Amino acid sequence: KRLILIGPPGSGKGTQSPIIKDEYCLCHLATGDMLRAAVAAKTPLGVKAKEAMDNGGLVSDDLVVGIIDEAVKKPSCQKGFILDGFPRTVVQAQKLDQMLEKQGTKIDTVLNFSIDDAILEERITGRWIHPSSGRSYHTKFAPPKVAGVDDVTGEPLIQRKDDTAAVLKSRLEAFHKQTEPVIDYYSKKKIVVELQAEKPPKEVAEEIQKVLSS
Ligand code: AP5
Ligand code: ZN
Repeated sequence: KRLILIGPPGSGKGTQSPIIKDEYCLCHLATGDMLRAAVAAKTPLGVKAKEAMDNGGLVSDDLVVGIIDEAVKKPSCQKGFILDGFPRTVVQAQKLDQMLEKQGTKIDTVLNFSIDDAILEERITGRWIHPSSGRSYHTKFAPPKVAGVDDVTGEPLIQRKDDTAAVLKSRLEAFHKQTEPVIDYYSKKKIVVELQAEKPPKEVAEEIQKVLSS
């Protein structure tokens, strides 16, 4: 399967991705995770992306389309993939369609993580992540076994630089202005399924199971 997960910051895309990935053996392509790794490693891509990310704006279409273009060609992604955080603009969606057309494939389903903005600040400000795996925790909703430490590796957890109430405002603005039109783009193709993303993680996972097995 080839899936897209769309939703505002904190809607649960990164939380649900590993569950879908394990079940269907798909590759998980999260542009946010890839960009954060590039910023941390100070690669040319990371240097270009850093300012927009710190301010909660979008990185340029050319940069992110380049990353995805490389990734979807990888042998490990031929069986299918989960796109988490991409496409975020209509231009990115059009470029993606062109890429897949060349490979003779297409997107099967777009999961729309629908949730009220008001819930997101608590989710974002309470999040702790394990940078190298992308695993995320929440002080209240999904606490690690030991505070500040990853359950699997025992390595320290960190908070994302853009996970403040102030930067969240800009990220939400970018979502409503630039990414919501992407949902309309795929709605016209009749491949969007809406999820009630304010429900507990387990219930969201069950909803996704139902959609993907039908
Ligand atoms: P990105 O990393 O994609 O961030 P985002 O879209 O803002 O999404 P988040 O990762 O914040 O949210 P999520 O939905 O994954 O939430 P999670 O599951 O962790 O992008 C970051 C930046 O990179 C962008 O701002 C931009 O600058 C740049 N960028 C990336 N892609 C780009 C692109 N295509 N084009 C241009 N620029 C791009 O959950 C959040 C918290 O809530 C966690 O603590 C979790 O434990 C908890 N939680 C999850 N689900 C539930 C639940 N059901 N109930 C209670 N708590 C829950
Ligand atoms: Zn995420």
